Amino acid sequence: MSDPRDPDGGAPVRVRRDIWGLEEEQAWHPVTRAYARAVGQLQKRAATDPTGWTYQAQIHGMPGFRQPDDFRGQCQHNSWSFLPWHRLYLYWFERIVRSCVEADPEVDDETTRAWALPYWNYSVGGTRSSLPEAFREPTMPDGSGPNPLFVAQRNQFINDGEELDPRAIRLREALAPLTFAVPRPDGGFGGAATGWNHRNQDVNFAAGSLEQTPHGDVHMEVGGLMSQFSTAAFDPVFWLHHANIDRVWESWRHELGRPDPDATSSWGTTGFGFHDEQGAEVTGTAADVLDIAAQLQYRYEDISVPAFDRRGRRGRVEEPVPADTPAELIGATEEPLRLSGSSQDVTFPVGRPTGPADRRGGAPAQLILAVEGIEQIESGDPPDVTYAVYVNMPEDLPGDADPEDYYAGNVNFFGIAEPAPGDSDTEAHALRRSFDITDLVEGLRAGGRWDPDAFTVSFRPLVRGRARRGPGGEERTTTPVRVGRIGLYVR
Ligand code: C2O
Repeated sequence: MSDPRDPDGGAPVRVRRDIWGLEEEQAWHPVTRAYARAVGQLQKRAATDPTGWTYQAQIHGMPGFRQPDDFRGQCQHNSWSFLPWHRLYLYWFERIVRSCVEADPEVDDETTRAWALPYWNYSVGGTRSSLPEAFREPTMPDGSGPNPLFVAQRNQFINDGEELDPRAIRLREALAPLTFAVPRPDGGFGGAATGWNHRNQDVNFAAGSLEQTPHGDVHMEVGGLMSQFSTAAFDPVFWLHHANIDRVWESWRHELGRPDPDATSSWGTTGFGFHDEQGAEVTGTAADVLDIAAQLQYRYEDISVPAFDRRGRRGRVEEPVPADTPAELIGATEEPLRLSGSSQDVTFPVGRPTGPADRRGGAPAQLILAVEGIEQIESGDPPDVTYAVYVNMPEDLPGDADPEDYYAGNVNFFGIAEPAPGDSDTEAHALRRSFDITDLVEGLRAGGRWDPDAFTVSFRPLVRGRARRGPGGEERTTTPVRVGRIGLYVR
């Protein structure tokens, strides 16, 4: 994206660094402190100021999924525009923050010159999957007042510094797809091809693997403001979470060498509007943001992929199934399922494909488990329990059995259609989640655990017991969710 105020090629490339690396180097690292102070400044700006905190957060979403103008209520989800839209969003936000950092006399020159948005790489696991302390302390370390990075509404276990569930931060399934955009039900790595899709207005919507987990899971695990489109970007950790998601896109492209969609297609050329740090309107496309160092003057400190995550599910890398092969439903539940926080199992028979998938002449078929028609049917807090999904999991796993062999992925409800005033039609916007279980089923067959008459899908709540307790230790309930259908597709 060319910037008239920067002479071409003259701008230095800044490094987005790992927040935990910074904080381990020095608690309240100058980069973190500069961010906190800038957030505090932005929060003082008027709600109508496009460079202010409220407006910037409302770009992501407005209550009731309202789109009040060309700039607010815009986030692109369940779509192939998810990654490029959020990259643009972060880029302009980062410039606004940087202009505050530059104007802050309390920030030293070296920090000002180097300042870039840090990222939160929770996927390393362990301590690094807990929220850094600088985001958990209610007051600034110098006693200068409240800490703008602290948000009291987060799940208590997050603000207590507990680690995230390892399943919520997995990258293996996220990185496994070989193709960026695949039509529903699965979505590929980056999401299905859609037009403008904020609230699943495009019937072809489907989230990519990265958008599902860890992206959506981390939103729901952090909880509070982070758990809804309309409030997520009000939590200062939102921006570090998305810097990490943006970083994983770079890992998939450059470390695993996977291709983006054609930049001359509508994926690459659709324009999205934002404001720069002067409050001037700007437009950007995916094609404008594909080379982050050359076009946006930033790079990531580290985009390497751990060995476990790079090998796909079972260490096999197959040729991708052609994305335009129609998917055929070969089995599904007949009744809607209600999920309200506890474990649930459903069993249904699956048949053989009779359509094009059966005629692909021995080519490996792809099996996709889809959880569809997900709606919040009662108003209330967003349903904040995420479920790990297992297939044909034995009831009493023998001690040496690995639940990993039965693990499909997680279902989170970030962006669920909620009953909104004046819109009772949540069904039209109902969420879907899907998982490529080709290798999982192959493993079941090999282990004699495949029975076409009894395909069993198990939902296990992800959050650990302590997360289900309020600050006073009381049991918390969760708003129930209706799942229209669970089905198995073959492509
Ligand atoms: Cu548009 Cu992580 O959200």
